[in-house]
Amino acid sequence: MGRYDLALIGFGGVNRALAELISQRGDRLADELGFALRVVAITDLRAGSLVDTDGIDLAPLLAAEPGELAFAGLPGGSADPRNEWVIREVPADVVVEATFTNPEDGEPALSHMRWALAAGKHVCTTNKGPVALACRELKQVAERHGVSFEFEGSVLSGTPILRTAERMFGGLEITGVQGIMNGTSNYILGRLEEGVELPEAIAQAQELGYAEADPTADIEGHDVQLKVMILANEVLGADLRREDVVCEGISKITPDYAQDAVSKGLRWKLVGSATRRADGTVDARVAPVALPGHHPLAGISGPVNAVAFHTDLLGTVTVSGPGAGRIETAYALLSDVIAIHQRHHAHDDTAPARRVLQETSRG
Ligand code: HSE
Repeated sequence: MGRYDLALIGFGGVNRALAELISQRGDRLADELGFALRVVAITDLRAGSLVDTDGIDLAPLLAAEPGELAFAGLPGGSADPRNEWVIREVPADVVVEATFTNPEDGEPALSHMRWALAAGKHVCTTNKGPVALACRELKQVAERHGVSFEFEGSVLSGTPILRTAERMFGGLEITGVQGIMNGTSNYILGRLEEGVELPEAIAQAQELGYAEADPTADIEGHDVQLKVMILANEVLGADLRREDVVCEGISKITPDYAQDAVSKGLRWKLVGSATRRADGTVDARVAPVALPGHHPLAGISGPVNAVAFHTDLLGTVTVSGPGAGRIETAYALLSDVIAIHQRHHAHDDTAPARRVLQETSRG
């Protein structure tokens, strides 16, 4: 059976959840998928770095409280994250990038991805920043080095929006996409409809773990703006920058507005959309829209997300599911490795070149 050796860059909620999946159901996954998964390196801003080319024992790491994890002192461990060295030098098949999203310039994740692809390693990521800002470049680097760049989790976590668009709509034209792509704002809009004021609704979303500690990107639409860029560029072949996507959040919606809309059969939703214009260019925006009850996105409530694809042959096709969550987002990374496996092949343990690399790294 083949195997993929993973280097996990960032060991916050998502990569930790991926490690849990591998640790808890690795054998079952191997039976089903026909390849094994092994973690050979982990780096983290706070915990440092840990490398074992024979496979890291994940159980003790997962037993520790996340805030208490420290790799210094462990065999192969260091207090220094050593990201560049780990990404470039440690023999791994796949670099799994799950550090924080930087919407300004995508760094440091963008550099992590460039280093990994240039070193001939596949990259999987849930990090919206580099995907929104530099997807085209990263795909080209991947292509040049014969590896894959996969990023399903950058939009709607594990709900397969990008792969649905890429693989399931052959032979038809997607003319536009519209989505509810932020669970926090959708949950908050529901609370406003019940008469709850915005600050209280935000606090409730934070208590439930939907909103970020700083919920600005959720409320003001910046999180959705990046997702719209990714969808417009991937699904409609656009090449949009952030400033091309008009962005307005939900902070001006009051409980009165929300309740008034409901009384008229409408529901306020934060809608991200990208639509092909007659001249072939793409109009992309994020804005609160009062949707009529019959609209496919009007019934999407709470933290649930959905994307409606408008097509020429099928009309509107809507995919709905979770848009966030540790395990849900980790599943996106697993689905990326499966996609890599479908395109390439898991490495063969007995390949001489790899054995040499492994000996070198141990030395
Ligand atoms: N805070 C985001 C949401 C998480 O509420 O949907 C995913 O980007």
